[in-house]
Amino acid sequence: MSDSKLLMQEGHSRREFLKRTVGVLWCGASSSGASAQVQERDFREASGRNGLVVSVSAPATQVGIEILRAGGNAVDAAVAVAFALAVTYPPAGNIGGGGFMNVFVPPVLRARFPKLSQPAIVVDYREVAPLKAHREMFQRGDSPHQHKAVGVPGTVAGLALAHAMLGKLPWRRVVEPAIALARDGFAVDAPLASSLQNILNQSKAFPELQRVFAPPDGQRWKAGAVLRQADLAWTLKQIADGGAEAFYHGPIAEKIIAEMQRGGGWIHRDDLKAYRPKLRSAIFFRFGQYEIYSNPPASSGGITLSLILRQVAEFPYRQWGRWDLRTLHVLIEAMRRAYVERARWLGDPDFVPIPDHLLDPEFARRLAKSIRLDRATPSRELAPDIVLTPEGTETTHFSVLDADGIAVANTYTLEHSYGSRIVVRGAGFLLNNEMTDFNWFPERTTAGGLIGTPPNQIAPGKRMLSSMTPTIAVRDSRPVLITGSPGGRTIINTVAQIILNRLAFELPPRSSVDLPRLHHQWFPDEVRYEPADPWGADLLQGLRRLGHKVLAADRQGEAHSIFYDDERATYHAVADGRVSGSAGSA
Ligand code: DON
Repeated sequence: MSDSKLLMQEGHSRREFLKRTVGVLWCGASSSGASAQVQERDFREASGRNGLVVSVSAPATQVGIEILRAGGNAVDAAVAVAFALAVTYPPAGNIGGGGFMNVFVPPVLRARFPKLSQPAIVVDYREVAPLKAHREMFQRGDSPHQHKAVGVPGTVAGLALAHAMLGKLPWRRVVEPAIALARDGFAVDAPLASSLQNILNQSKAFPELQRVFAPPDGQRWKAGAVLRQADLAWTLKQIADGGAEAFYHGPIAEKIIAEMQRGGGWIHRDDLKAYRPKLRSAIFFRFGQYEIYSNPPASSGGITLSLILRQVAEFPYRQWGRWDLRTLHVLIEAMRRAYVERARWLGDPDFVPIPDHLLDPEFARRLAKSIRLDRATPSRELAPDIVLTPEGTETTHFSVLDADGIAVANTYTLEHSYGSRIVVRGAGFLLNNEMTDFNWFPERTTAGGLIGTPPNQIAPGKRMLSSMTPTIAVRDSRPVLITGSPGGRTIINTVAQIILNRLAFELPPRSSVDLPRLHHQWFPDEVRYEPADPWGADLLQGLRRLGHKVLAADRQGEAHSIFYDDERATYHAVADGRVSGSAGSA
């Protein structure tokens, strides 16, 4: 039986999770009776009306809860969680990368935030290409793990902007918990121990990574061992004292520049000085009785998501049922068509025009009309205008809600797991390799999935196209779903399926997250699926008969989400648990 199949079995999943987590909670577990009680709690779920946090990491979730309890709002908590994850989840939590924070503020509170002109605002703190970058700066065979692959980091500026605009607590208060975690250390859980061990084994050529992530016993990482990061504590202290200035102009900037010079990187002082996060309107569309607020360009997430859901909505899929062959077929065909438009049009909106028709419901209807129920459309037929050249992933999402109904969906990343693997010497943090999200090879679009279309080609100061899709669904001014996921191009499809599960099929929160997912991205022309119930031979054969190439894949995404539970009139946070995760209530 595959791992994901095992994970789908609730009892087993819970046991596994507890086995992995218990004893290594940051609050510390002992063999006392009190700890036995702790061990009985399922940290993958939490309910309540006073605020919820759900993230990949128990100590980071705990930081968010503490901030809410200290009177912080969801934005304070989200900023604190993001800094904490930079310490407790080095594969993707970061200050050397970038991402997007989607914030929904209920109408009754809007008067408190005069600068907020709309219900949901996205802080785009995506990295940008260095000023010296150009379209053809990468050659075939270039390593994605080199100084040249590093984009100008956006996280610190983005978190500072979100906090300045919408936060309540002092800046220092939201950074301090991360400093303590870095300085005093925290006990790693089993998935993190194995992840750290793997990256050490794979990254012998990165001495600073080897030094800062060395296991305390000098041998191997084991669950429960303590990770202390003195250099990172220093860096975070500079940020607590000096704000984003310390990172982009001050002592941290000096260390980044020195690192770039040592490794032949392209980021200079001017790049750091020029970096600005952007405030953008969320992509808005209606889906049934829900308002969906999702991620705008420079992410492809929101627009592609709207195209998928609007096409599906043209079919009687609710009558057919969630696991009916027709529903799955239509969903795959909708994904295929949406990803063509993604490749054709989407890039940094400050550099390329994003056509209005992509958000016109009539356009999605036209795409849906081209879906045939009796056969799969070969991907090649859909975009004769995009010339194909013959062909010779870690992110993390967390969700936060406060007692007033302010909702935050935040997805951020270093691109690859541990990014470029380059730790800034003496500063203790990893740099992203986000430059790999550009279309590296202009005009090389291949049936294997390489995209070379113009909108996402490299230019100085340009943001590379993302698929991150932090999304908030609202009904009657109340956030009813806060979600998002890692997983590169699969992210958008993961979010689409959670929305369908919950908002269309009204499945319980746990099933909405746990049900196996599928993915089609136009090219390669294949459907990847998580092999777990209720997939069965009939469905797979049915799809193959329609002409789909269907392949079993690894787990897809990790969507730590918050749901409104109508029946109990309360909120419910669900950690995805495909890898690890932790939910808590204030
Ligand atoms: O922005 C993006 O879409 C990618 N850099 C995300 C990478 C990712 O999700 C890898 N994680 N599993």
